[in-house]
Amino acid sequence: MNIALCGYMGSGKSSVGKSLAFKLGYEYIDTDEYIEKSFGMSIPKIFDTIGEAGFRSAETEALMHLSNRKRTVFSLGGGSLISPENRDILLKYATIVYLEVPFETCYNRICEGADRPIVNAKTKEELLQHYNQRLAIYEQSADYRVNGSGSISTTVDNILRLSIARN
Ligand code: S3P
Repeated sequence: MNIALCGYMGSGKSSVGKSLAFKLGYEYIDTDEYIEKSFGMSIPKIFDTIGEAGFRSAETEALMHLSNRKRTVFSLGGGSLISPENRDILLKYATIVYLEVPFETCYNRICEGADRPIVNAKTKEELLQHYNQRLAIYEQSADYRVNGSGSISTTVDNILRLSIARN
């Protein structure tokens, strides 16, 4: 079974995903990087060129293209599960794990870069509201929730303890 990590921007999906894939001997795919490669553009450039709606369609297309992967850990963009269609596509080939990380931790991480158009367009208060809305989506969509507020290796161990890779 494949594993797809979801969670808010800055929740550590990429770092945890890489380490988890390494430990399991799985492949690793970051869906944002996959989209960037297929467009030959960065995420901010994609947002500038085709808008958020275009990016969301690209996410759906990427999730469909990736459906033949085996023994792969995916880290999803923070908004990938907004669309129930994406969740349905993913659930056919991956177990979805939600990395639960407090807002302040995510906020401190995402403030460092300028590579997230959603963050650049919002104040801290707006982001907190956005985080709370997203939380509900992650909770509804995920098969499992794990505490992602500790170190990368602790979070990876929390996921390994679920024993989903053996299913
Ligand atoms: C987004 C999260 C980003 C990226 C895009 C939109 C979102 O991914 O897909 O900037 O809507 O939450 P990360 O969660 O990996 O930062």
